[in-house]
Amino acid sequence: MKSLEDLVSLPHVVVAHRGASGNAPENTLTAIGLALEAGALMIEIDVQLTTDEQIVVFHDPSLERTSNGHGEICRSSSAELKKLDAGSWFGERFRGEKIPLLDEVFQLIRGRACINVEIKPPAAGEDWRKRIRLITAATAAAEMTPFTLFSSFHHDSLRYLNSLKQGFHSAALLPSGDQRPVSEVLRDTGCQAFVCSLRQLTPELAADIAAHDIFTGVYTINTGQEAELALQRHARGLVTDFPERILHYLETRAQ
Ligand code: G3P
Ligand code: MG
Repeated sequence: MKSLEDLVSLPHVVVAHRGASGNAPENTLTAIGLALEAGALMIEIDVQLTTDEQIVVFHDPSLERTSNGHGEICRSSSAELKKLDAGSWFGERFRGEKIPLLDEVFQLIRGRACINVEIKPPAAGEDWRKRIRLITAATAAAEMTPFTLFSSFHHDSLRYLNSLKQGFHSAALLPSGDQRPVSEVLRDTGCQAFVCSLRQLTPELAADIAAHDIFTGVYTINTGQEAELALQRHARGLVTDFPERILHYLETRAQ
């Protein structure tokens, strides 16, 4: 089993975006299981907090797009969320799929892959420092810290996470419109790694990444052509909805 330290020394790492979200409903145990079966070495998920301070795996601030629930996820309890169907929006055969807890995902991937826990921006008025403490404490309690990369667009959260000085690994996501050099973003947040979209990965940004040897992930890489461009521009983490497709592309490319 590879730890994060092992992964950063590889020429490229396929990261399953919200699990194998091209083939199964995003951020569910089924999507994560498919990504593991495909051989992804890292699984990316999004996390948020419920009213009873449980950490749940879900992308949007509101429930409508990827479940049969309504309203904001931060105003729901974990018990309410567990009653929802987070599968049938994607396909009838996924009906009954649940919104997982972070701990359930840890149990599934333990010993099989690393995890990228993306901490979603806080809701208005949410105590984001407390949220960071809860998420990092759950990770440490599950003994998953060496296998977990935290990331966020919310740089205050990242600064706070790194100020805890507990050996957490972190990557800064680049908010749209942020024009700073990558090296400056990392200095500012205390992160070791960086993640941006393929559109944001300009030749200038790529030159900065290469000059400072920064481990960079790029999303969303769903074709061989996109993978090729990302690799040319020095990205090493390929964040994809179709891990089996990108793994196959990289295998044939190496032959
Ligand atoms: O970590 C890459 C990607 O997940 C960031 O955007 O919206 O898909 O969570 P999003
Ligand atoms: Mg994400």
